[in-house]
Parts: sequence; structure tokens; C-alpha cells
Amino acid sequence: MKLLINVSLCLFLLYSCNSGPTVDQVISDNLLVADAQYNKALKANTDKTKIPRTHNDDGSLRSVGAYDWTSGFFAGDMWLMYELTGEEKWKKEAIHYTELLDTIQYWTGNHDVGFMINCSYGNGLLSSGNKKYEQVLVNAAQSLSARFDEKIGCLESWNYRKAWDGKTEWFFPVIIDNMMNLELLFKASELSGNDKYKQIAITHAKTTMKNHYRPDYSCYHVVDYNEETGAVKDQATCQGFTDASSWARGQAWGLYGYTLCYRFTKDPIFLDFAQNIAKYMMNFKTLPEDLIPLWDYHVNVKGFTPEWDYDASKFESIPRDVSAATITASALIELSEYVTDGKKYADFAWQTLQNVSTDKYRASIDEQNYFILKESVGSIPHEAELSVPLNYADYYFLEALLRTKTNKYLICQ
Ligand code: GLY
Repeated sequence: MKLLINVSLCLFLLYSCNSGPTVDQVISDNLLVADAQYNKALKANTDKTKIPRTHNDDGSLRSVGAYDWTSGFFAGDMWLMYELTGEEKWKKEAIHYTELLDTIQYWTGNHDVGFMINCSYGNGLLSSGNKKYEQVLVNAAQSLSARFDEKIGCLESWNYRKAWDGKTEWFFPVIIDNMMNLELLFKASELSGNDKYKQIAITHAKTTMKNHYRPDYSCYHVVDYNEETGAVKDQATCQGFTDASSWARGQAWGLYGYTLCYRFTKDPIFLDFAQNIAKYMMNFKTLPEDLIPLWDYHVNVKGFTPEWDYDASKFESIPRDVSAATITASALIELSEYVTDGKKYADFAWQTLQNVSTDKYRASIDEQNYFILKESVGSIPHEAELSVPLNYADYYFLEALLRTKTNKYLICQ
């Protein structure tokens, strides 16, 4: 009987597996590059209180301090390298770059504490089981919760600021990116037994569904709220092409965010929502054949004109955003596990991962580059980080590679 089951399983795998490189081949090929690039980054990062983020225009490493919103990703990159290779050297670096962020658990200055602490200490807890990290996650969730407003039903992302026109004032701006910070809150409730953090996360996610999303499941980047009444005051962009357009990384944050809401709640409304967002993203008419999105889906769509000074002639072609592609791939691999027809998500993600693992998007070992992937964009309207490596593009790439190893559709590739 056992033999029959084994034979049937093998026949099933043979029948269902696609041709092409295996998961193990793609992972080991990328780990060779990652090993070379991160060794260079660690060597170039001479001030060990700083954290590698990207490179400067002259190609030198650009590192940032603990309060930068990307400060948790390099620690996360190191933890993921440790998970993928089992090599102690990555664990040692992971601990260093994680514990550098010790004071961030008390940071209430913006919503990014979720990214910073979950990607560093959160991965550290999973990888090393260090019990001390549990309290850090709970403290950070407490700090993030200080930004929750009951009347609005959201966590405030940024403090007061002005929009592009220099006139529109944002008093309680919430950005779609904030969906990513909910993971910290869900984990903190599990760790502390205090349901408060989870309830804040659920309320934030539901309010965001209502006010950030359009009927086609694309989303605004920024929604500003009236603190007195809780009403929506403005729906706009800060890093996208126009207020009405679809900034690629924002769509990816939303997809990832609603998928993780389902992971922690098992509420089908989040699963449905994530699937609808995925449908929009996977079928958008400007999506290039290689699945690496334009930095904003609408950048060449007729009728979309930016609020800011945009000079298309600056670019040889419309920049892609590899970070949006890797966030999307990682989210889709998770989503594929939750539905009966998940193969379409896993296949899309697998194709994306293979496409970014090519010379166009990946650094070569000989290149003086400190990261695995190239061709991400920080913010085109701010002319910041145009077609460069970013530590978070690598982070979601490594996470996606790790997820392929246990994904039921990809395991046989
Ligand atoms: N959270 C900032 C960004 O995605 O650029």
C-alpha cells in the first residue's frame, strides 16, 4: 500500500512539475551571488553602527542609521542567508545588525517601527529562538499602537506634512505601506496574549480596504483623514505617478499586507481581498512580459498626468521596480498555499524569481555592487534612488526563495 502511494506521488510530481531549473538550482545559483555581494558589503561597511541600504551615484556603499525606515532589512537579509545556507557567519552578522536596532522598539515617530523591528528581531526570533527578542517585538507593537486613532480606525503613518503642491496639508496621513506593519501587531498579540494589538491590526486593515482601494482593487498611496470627524480628506500619491495611478510598490505592499492578515485571522474577507488585488496586478495591461513591473503601472497610460515635475526624457526607458516584483512574488507564494487554485500564483512568482535571477536584474559576482539585485526605485518623484539596488528588494527576494522550498506547488520544480 505504502509503495503504491509512493509510486502515485512520484507519478503526480512527474506529471505536475514543469521543465526548467529546479528550486534548488535557482536557490544555489543566487546564493553564490549573494555570498559574494554581501561579503563585499560587510567589508565596505566600516562603520559598524551603520546599515547597508543601497549604493551612491559613484558606486560606493550607502549605509544609514538605525532610525532610517529601511534599517531592519539588512539584518533580515542576514537572517534569511542563515536560514538558506545554515552558515554561522550569517547568523553572527544577523545578530549584530539586529541588536543595533535596540532603541527602535520605543520609536513612535512614524509607522516604520513595524518594518524595522519585524524584519530584524522578528526573523531573529524565528531563526534563533532567542526569547529576549519576544519582549522587543511586544514593546515595538506597543510603540506602533500609540499611533492608532479609534475614531479614524487607522494607525497614523507619517506626522503632519504638505503634499506635492506645497499647499495641501496632510494632518493624519496613512500610506498603503502601513499594511506591512500589521505583522508586528499580530505577532505581538500571539506572544503577549494581549489581543489589543491584533484588534488594532484588523481595524486598520478594514478601514484601509474602504478608503485606500478603488473598485478595481488598485489603491491610492496616501489617504489623509480628519482627526475630528474621522472622515477622509484626501486620496493622493507621494511616490507614484499621479493621485489616481497605481504605484507598483504600493500595490505590492497591499497584496502582501492582506495575505498576512489572512494568515493571522483566517478571515475569508482578507483572503478574497488579497486575491482580488492579485488579479489586478497579474493582469494589468502594462505589465511587461518578464513580470517586473514599471515603477508605476499607469506611467504610460493615456490620461494620467503627474502632479509633479516629470521629465520622461531623463529615462532611456520607463524604470522598472524590482523591489515591487520581489515583494509581490513573496506574497503570491504565501497566497498560493491558502486557496485551491493557488498554482497560478506560485507559477507567477516562480517565473518572476527566475526572471530577476538574470543579468538584467541581478548583480554579477565581479561587479562592485553590494547587493544581489539591481534595478529598483526608491522614489522617482523625489529623484531618489533611480534604478539601484535596495536592501528591501533583496530581503523579499531571499524570503521568496526560502518560501519556494516548502511551497506545495514549487517543491517539485
Ligand atoms: N515605505 C516606503 C517605500 O516603500 O518606499
